[in-house]
Amino acid sequence: MAAGQRLICAGSALMDGGTGVRFSVERYGRQRPAFVIRYHGRVYAYLNECAHVPAELDLQPGEFFDHSKLYLICAIHGALYAPDSGRCLGGRCEGRGLQALPVFESEGDVYLVLENFDG
Ligand code: FES
Repeated sequence: MAAGQRLICAGSALMDGGTGVRFSVERYGRQRPAFVIRYHGRVYAYLNECAHVPAELDLQPGEFFDHSKLYLICAIHGALYAPDSGRCLGGRCEGRGLQALPVFESEGDVYLVLENFDG
């Protein structure tokens, strides 16, 4: 299944609960926006698409956390998501969550695991 990996950013670019790094992935033949954040020391990545309507979560680029630094928030209508699972915790997404992307950190860098549909 996994055909390789792609460097996304240096791990030092991601502070816990801080600004995320935006990138893109190819899904089903088109580029889709995505982002990676750090939460409780681990890195997590998701498609940058709200579960409510397909809008990017961050109005200010990279600002995915709410003020508490405990939740990811869609800046448009305030839907909240769990940073470690993408699960919807409230708001207009009505139980739908973010689409997780497989990432890992190794020797100070953060990588996306390439799947069959990734470019
Ligand atoms: S667009 Fe994200 S909650 Fe409405």
